[in-house]
Amino acid sequence: MKDFPPVLHPYHSAPHQVSWQSPSNIALVKYWGKYDPQLPANPSVSLTLDQCRTITKVRCEPRPTDAHGTFSFEFLLGGTPKPDFHPKIEGFFQRILAYLPFLTQVHLRIESENTFPHSSGIASSASAMSALALCLLHIARGDEAVSDPSFFQQASYLARLGSGSACRSIWGPVVVWGVTPSIPEASQEFGWSSDRIHPVFADYQDTILLIDQGQKSVSSTVGHQLMVGHPFAEARFKQAHKHLEQMMEVLAQGDLDRFVDLVEREALTLHALMMASNPSFVLMKPATLAVIEKIRAYRKATQHPVCFTLDAGANVHVLYPKSISKTVLQWIQDELVVYCEKESYICDSVGRGSSPING
Ligand code: DP6
Repeated sequence: MKDFPPVLHPYHSAPHQVSWQSPSNIALVKYWGKYDPQLPANPSVSLTLDQCRTITKVRCEPRPTDAHGTFSFEFLLGGTPKPDFHPKIEGFFQRILAYLPFLTQVHLRIESENTFPHSSGIASSASAMSALALCLLHIARGDEAVSDPSFFQQASYLARLGSGSACRSIWGPVVVWGVTPSIPEASQEFGWSSDRIHPVFADYQDTILLIDQGQKSVSSTVGHQLMVGHPFAEARFKQAHKHLEQMMEVLAQGDLDRFVDLVEREALTLHALMMASNPSFVLMKPATLAVIEKIRAYRKATQHPVCFTLDAGANVHVLYPKSISKTVLQWIQDELVVYCEKESYICDSVGRGSSPING
């Protein structure tokens, strides 16, 4: 980023505390494949969610600069210390140290909580890394900077260095990440929030069916790596640019038939890429397929524009307009919840992005 020099002005010399909430997001055109430093092999676009969020509080205390440049921090999730998260956080700090040099001059107490169950298999890296990036930048730049639009762009830049998809969680309802000829404003380095969005998407519904709440069998880091030398990589990256261009038209026009078609083909392409990788992964479970078939049959029978998308796992995101939410939710409860592990599902909708929490 041309206008993102290291934030050199001193952090507050007294102990300082900030808190942010940041949501998860669900990609419509998927980011799958990356290269250093955390740049996407193809552009992606997502809907920002509302209910699935991470709330993070960071307390910053000055300490003498460490000659070895080490970091000093503690991390708690839901009130419990989680040392197993330290390597991931430390890797993030390493990548953003050039922008936030104060990180080796402070002790940080990071307290996070998710509004969704941690074991649910819902990716939390987007909400977690964006919330943490916002807190750190807030500490570095001070309260006044929060009203500056560059603040959010820089936060998105930093969040990307924690987890690629996290750069899309800063704003809502629709965020693009990655350069593509049809969107001159889009960047490889941070998200860009489009305002050419049809009102039908402003409160679109996402009911997340928790088919498998276990640990993901392929981490996203390993997953992205599978695209290096993948036999279909070139064709996929080309297709993603085309899909993004088409998706932006669909999102602007509110064309729900084309939306359904594109969203489902993107989800299945992601899984097809994993199935054709070396090593290969089948991340759908029998219940995932059963739900997909049910959704397609229901759509055919009712003409309701209900569709599915998938992340790199077995859970199914059921997407539909708010205007039919009562009918669709009833159908989900009657017909689909039986496929969920412990009958668990999360009702979410499109949201507006991250915000500071005062006090
Ligand atoms: C399938 O953003 O989790 O959800 O950059 O390695 O942290 P890292 O990957 P991550 O990958 C998300 C992959 C996806 C598609 C998407 O969200 O676009």
